[in-house]
Amino acid sequence: ACKIIIDTDPGQDDAVAILLALASPDEIEVLGITAVAGNVPLALTARNARIVCELAGRTDVPVYAGCDRPLGRPLVTAEHVHGKTGLNGPVLPDPTMPLQQDHAVDFIIQTLRSEDSGAVTLCPLGPLTNIAMAFEKAPDIVGRVAEIVLMGGAYFEVGNITPAAEFNIYVDPQAADIVLKSGAEITVMPLDVTHKALVTRARNDAFRALGTRVGTAVADMTDFFERFDKEKYGTAGAPLHDPCVTAYLIRPDLFTGRHVNVEIETRSELTMGMTVADWWRVTDRAPNAMFMGDLDADGFFDLLTERLGRL
Ligand code: BDR
Ligand code: CA
Repeated sequence: ACKIIIDTDPGQDDAVAILLALASPDEIEVLGITAVAGNVPLALTARNARIVCELAGRTDVPVYAGCDRPLGRPLVTAEHVHGKTGLNGPVLPDPTMPLQQDHAVDFIIQTLRSEDSGAVTLCPLGPLTNIAMAFEKAPDIVGRVAEIVLMGGAYFEVGNITPAAEFNIYVDPQAADIVLKSGAEITVMPLDVTHKALVTRARNDAFRALGTRVGTAVADMTDFFERFDKEKYGTAGAPLHDPCVTAYLIRPDLFTGRHVNVEIETRSELTMGMTVADWWRVTDRAPNAMFMGDLDADGFFDLLTERLGRL
């Protein structure tokens, strides 16, 4: 199984991404979950990560709290999408499992140093603050990362928090810039892919039809999260952004993309956090990321529903 650290700001879609990973032990071993401020403040994301582990019956997975704000900007949150708690929709009990004492950044550093070089994949599902901090604090770990598979950015679909930027990158563009320039192997799931992972009514019904606690919770989460995109954009349902990352680890064949140069705008207020992806290779800037562009949505939902049924 591929050893991973999930760095996350749950978020209903983050929650589904975590559940998919925990439901897939043959392919994925979750070494730990690190929380970051993003959709909601850190205290809530660290809490929500534990709620999700408990929902999956996996209180053995250590959860760490990380950075409570972006490297150089005030925190921007997304309660307008995810609700006040970040996990609105299902009624789930308060977590009883403890939060680990160590800082998430130290856990990331220690894990990359103690595991074999090239053994650990990082899966960032929120702003890249924790990952960038770890790389700045311990540059020796960058070369030990197997791969970074992250949700963030956009190319044709441009922005969902400003006209030019996707939320995760916009919240901490400096961190994203550090990660994209780090030299690590990177796979990006931008809005171009995640806007194809839409929870239609039939797909939501399939979660509910599992008849399990997890199935019901995921249906309630996507019902809640769906209201926003449907009302605002008139789409068929909620886009499951973050589960694209964990699905990729299980079924990379569901995705296609291009290895291109991706740079982050960190100065212009107008286009702050824009992922400038050289999709048509019009520059000679060296490719630094596999930028995904398409997804087999039916294959994705078949996989997700089948795996959630295992929990
Ligand atoms: C990203 O922003 C968050 O609201 C979601 O959890 C996802 O990670 C989509 O832009
Ligand atoms: Ca997220």
